[in-house]
Amino acid sequence: MSPKIIATCALLTSVALVSGCPSSGNNSGSTNANEILIGHYGSMTGSEATFGQSTDNGIKLAVEEINAAGGINGKQIKLITYDDKGDTKEVGAAVTRLVANDHVVAVLGEVASNLSLAGAPVCQEHGVPMVSPSSTNPQVTKIGDKIFRVCFIDPFQGYVCAKFAREQEGLKADKVAILYDQTQAYSKGLAEEFEKAFESLGGTICENQAYSRGDQDFTAQLTAIRSSNPDMVFVPGYYTDVGNIALQARKLGIDVPLFGGDGWDSSQLYEIGGEAVNGCYYSNHYSHEDPNPRVQDFITKYKEKHGAIPDGLAALGYDAAMLLFEAMQRASSLGGDDLAAAISQTENFDGVTGNISIDGQRNAVKPAVILEMKDGRPTYLTTIEP
Ligand code: PHE
Repeated sequence: MSPKIIATCALLTSVALVSGCPSSGNNSGSTNANEILIGHYGSMTGSEATFGQSTDNGIKLAVEEINAAGGINGKQIKLITYDDKGDTKEVGAAVTRLVANDHVVAVLGEVASNLSLAGAPVCQEHGVPMVSPSSTNPQVTKIGDKIFRVCFIDPFQGYVCAKFAREQEGLKADKVAILYDQTQAYSKGLAEEFEKAFESLGGTICENQAYSRGDQDFTAQLTAIRSSNPDMVFVPGYYTDVGNIALQARKLGIDVPLFGGDGWDSSQLYEIGGEAVNGCYYSNHYSHEDPNPRVQDFITKYKEKHGAIPDGLAALGYDAAMLLFEAMQRASSLGGDDLAAAISQTENFDGVTGNISIDGQRNAVKPAVILEMKDGRPTYLTTIEP
């Protein structure tokens, strides 16, 4: 790399550059005729840092594989990742830099729905396809015709959680209390979908309480929840808050199971919540215990490269990247319109997180799994089909 390019990189300080120095480019995605640039924006740091890190690890594995297999029509894929710190205020700068300065042909990200909702309008405006690996709030892909996802959406996830709580042998909950994060579109939306589904299955919501991301003290909400005497408590938040909520719930004598959605998916959940999260449940996109050779092969390769068991985010990051590469191979050009058309025509893509077809709303329709925290480990319990 020339000293001039290094100096330019050092001057770009509005967002942290995590990997790769961006080449100034044109619409082909790179000034270098032998490579294609793609972007990733994610929470590499901040309170949900494992979301961004795992996703990036999954994407990197996919990039390594496609490049080893000869790339896309002879060109190597180059990934540029920017850290948005899990902060909506950082997202605009990170995504603008990817699409307007680096001229990436496509963007992968984000995990948290709030952050995808902030990044998607930038991609849409510049006509650059964005594929969210894991944002489940329905609004994300409604931003426009360039915005896709490879995961299921929350109306389904809410139903999955409701059906599980209502019908699972040994649980069969009648009364559930809800404690959701009012600052997150994901949490608020999932709480509403759960409530609808649980009531339509004959259950009752006995208490509904809210908190704000980063809150430290949940005593008031948990005291109200304790008084309502629930069979289970639904906590559709992100893992850092969930871990703290579980600790405080146990301290206050709430000993019924807590359960939630994919936002619990992090190796940090047990590190924060410890014993308090054992015997709790959450819905997710994949289980590392799935004996399917496609899944086990991915786990082996991921462990070799990153030295850890991949979580759902890593699997979704890998699938999002691989699905994008498959669409690139079919696209008549890598221009935004052609690439978006190719992505929208994806059918029966054999992903680690299941079979992925992109529907008319640019979403994926897939089954969900329920995991139980047992001795600090997410353990496969059951699969719920759409
Ligand atoms: N679905 C969550 C959201 O939309 C993000 C998430 C996905 C978190 C998968 C963990 C695992 O905000």
